Amino acid sequence: MNAARGTTPAAGTQTTRMHEVSKETSDIVDVVLEYSRRRILSSDTPLDKPLSAAELDRLAGRSIDEKGIGATRALALFEHVLAPACITTDHPQYLSFIPSAPTKAAISFDLVVSASALYGGSWLEGAGAVFAENEALGWLAHEFGLPPTSGGVFVQGGTLGNLSALVAARERARLRVTERGEEQPRRWVIVCSAEAHSSIASAARVMDVEVVPVAPRSDGMLTGEAVRGALVEHGASVLAVVATGGSTNFGVVDDIASIAALKDEFEFWLHVDGAYGLAAMLSPLARHRFAGVERADSVIVDPHKWLFAPFDACALIYRDPESGRRAHTQHAEYLDTLTETSDWSPSDYAAHLTRRARGLPLWFSLATYGGQAYRDAVTHSIQLALDIAAEIEKRPGLSLVRDPQLSVVVFERDGWAKADYDAWSARLLESQHAFVTPSSHAGRPNARFAIINPLTTFEQLVGILDTM
Ligand SMILES: Cc1ncc(COP(=O)(O)O)c(C=O)c1O
Repeated sequence: MNAARGTTPAAGTQTTRMHEVSKETSDIVDVVLEYSRRRILSSDTPLDKPLSAAELDRLAGRSIDEKGIGATRALALFEHVLAPACITTDHPQYLSFIPSAPTKAAISFDLVVSASALYGGSWLEGAGAVFAENEALGWLAHEFGLPPTSGGVFVQGGTLGNLSALVAARERARLRVTERGEEQPRRWVIVCSAEAHSSIASAARVMDVEVVPVAPRSDGMLTGEAVRGALVEHGASVLAVVATGGSTNFGVVDDIASIAALKDEFEFWLHVDGAYGLAAMLSPLARHRFAGVERADSVIVDPHKWLFAPFDACALIYRDPESGRRAHTQHAEYLDTLTETSDWSPSDYAAHLTRRARGLPLWFSLATYGGQAYRDAVTHSIQLALDIAAEIEKRPGLSLVRDPQLSVVVFERDGWAKADYDAWSARLLESQHAFVTPSSHAGRPNARFAIINPLTTFEQLVGILDTM
């Protein structure tokens, strides 16, 4: 049989070699699963560190040619050269940016998601997967006090979640203006804290709208009082107000209740960016800080941050999912089969079409361990942040920049300039002790612990303070 004439290719030829089940393909699956098993169950994966492109060129060289080098050699290259040049983001002493700490169940199930060739974009193709993802979204919505009619979708990350929510907000604002026969504003405006995440400004650039940054209080919290001024000044041009539920640099939660209360006087879409922090609502130590979230029109939270799922996943939830659908459904002749039904298709709720069922690792982990395990794990990090903050306050030469609210602790070393923090951070990584990148506030450099991993201990953090 000849493939070139459109007939069935014979088994064992190059055409079918990569897809059929054979000794070669089952050996490949074995070595990959064996490696994955070792990595998932390893408790001593080193922190590791990046290498330069020149070093990687020397160590890894070229691995792609016309014949292929085989799975065993390619995997060995990954295990011994490439993986050690990637920082272990789930290491207990990875305390930079926002770490990741996926549960064993969530990581393992990510393999299942790939193995099952699931399509997560439409109900028609992925009903079972979408049903389970929606259960996870519903569980989160309930935790946040949103109504049972709310709903949404897991997207790639917080940046895309914020953008998709704000596009839906603008669509609703446009519709409102049109229905009332009013003129569209010359320029739409997003109001947020001056300490809001950079992805809000990024969304505004993509949407070609304006950001009006409002100064928070000295403790970092944006208040309704401050937002009121912006609403009065910009009136009907405001497409949304963004409250941050846990700022990235400090873990500060805006005064969402006072911002939400402005809805009684002004018409605006309230979006809560809880990419990092909204998970803290699971803990009795922090839940009270989020009063007002229940009035949000949309929220995001990233399971790849503090909900212990692997990269990459952001839960985007709309109070009124129809507003998401109106803004985002793509129409094309070949998609009519999907869009002319009332089925719940995740593609309709964000700026995407093809999608991985990336909410499934969270669903599986929640189903496996139950919600209480999540509450305990999140509470551990908040308590640890309070404990290490108290330790910092006790130590001569160290001081907190702000009191921690969630699990980010920011502090200064007397007399240190940026170069001192940089050198200290580089030494910690070079010696494989910890990964703690410096940050800054109001032009002053500082050190910052972002604590997510339930395996991080007080003693480990004290050990890092001892190196300052
Ligand atoms: C508050 C906040 N919003 C948005 C984002 C962006 O999320 P992502 O990196 O998943 O795009 C982050 C990331 O740290 C964040 O902390």
